[in-house]
Amino acid sequence: MNQPAMNKLATSNFAERLLKWFDAYGRTDLPWQKEVGAYGIWVSEIMLQQTQVQTVIPYYQNFIARFPNVITLANANLDEVLQQWSGLGYYARARNLHRAAQVVRDAHEGEFPCEFNAVVELPGIGRSTAGAIMSLAFNQCYAILDGNVKRVLARHELIAGWPGKPGVAKELWAVAESRTPLSKVAAYTQAIMDLGATVCTRSKPSCDRCPVSGDCQAQLAGTMSDYPGRKPRKVKPLRSTTMVLASNSGQVYLERRPEAGIWGGLWSLPELGDRTLDDWCDEILGSTAVAFDAWPVLRHSFSHYDLDIHPVVVRVNPRASTVADGDNETWYGLEDLPPGGIAAPVQKLLDQLMVDHAKKSGYVSQN
Ligand code: ADE
Repeated sequence: MNQPAMNKLATSNFAERLLKWFDAYGRTDLPWQKEVGAYGIWVSEIMLQQTQVQTVIPYYQNFIARFPNVITLANANLDEVLQQWSGLGYYARARNLHRAAQVVRDAHEGEFPCEFNAVVELPGIGRSTAGAIMSLAFNQCYAILDGNVKRVLARHELIAGWPGKPGVAKELWAVAESRTPLSKVAAYTQAIMDLGATVCTRSKPSCDRCPVSGDCQAQLAGTMSDYPGRKPRKVKPLRSTTMVLASNSGQVYLERRPEAGIWGGLWSLPELGDRTLDDWCDEILGSTAVAFDAWPVLRHSFSHYDLDIHPVVVRVNPRASTVADGDNETWYGLEDLPPGGIAAPVQKLLDQLMVDHAKKSGYVSQN
């Protein structure tokens, strides 16, 4: 038997074993597997790009309740979209989702496209996410290669090296495509993702429960933990910033961040930069501070660097509350609905401020 024929045999066999396993153990009750069609699958795949299933589920449910179809999403204000996304992180995903919904509304007559080339051109959708949408929503034969699938295939085929390297990625894509069956693609796609998430895990894989362990090269060699190869380690740089919690009778001054850069478009505490606090109060609020308090440093990790946030609470002269209230700055009442999306560490500081405010004003929670 020549090599290509052998590969074909392994391919169909691999898919068959996975499909059989999926019938018994696959996940079939995830909220995006019910109703809402391509739109819901697209939203879920974007949320799942950097976030685990259990974290995504409540966000997905709230998001779909607020934006039940692509038109409501396209017509929504970006602030509302970011607000729904608050806490999920990687906010570029939400901005892209919103822009993509507008492309679907304006260029595809409000109908989510069912052609790979149109899907992959939408903002925020790469080759793997497009493959997932095509297979899960339209049962079309497209391969996927997310983190879980890379692990399964790298181990099964003994593909060494970090998948972020173009040569390694190319090899993995070739295997992913050759294994994707012509029929039952949706089930196969979900099966291989589920296998990676629940059986072929990064540490302590459960090979005894794996339907393809019999010819998994890494399992046969006992070298599962070497695959996929790790990213060459770089020490993350540490940056620091001082954030001002300017508060005034239960209100705190917030600024909307510019679209480009970290937390783009989200509401945030202002950064002091190289000004003194007195200068900042004078320049930004046109007011004077009556008390300062430095809080402990809060460290936040981004993928490319760590950020040490030095919070400074400033109680300002009440006259300041009349100074600012525009599209990009606001006095936010701590008990009100947030003006839009708020980055997680900023929300943490606001929660702490709320607790302090409640204590000072004598309010005692019943919980
Ligand atoms: N990760 C990415 N897409 C997924 C899906 N549809 N189900 C489970 N995990 C996933």
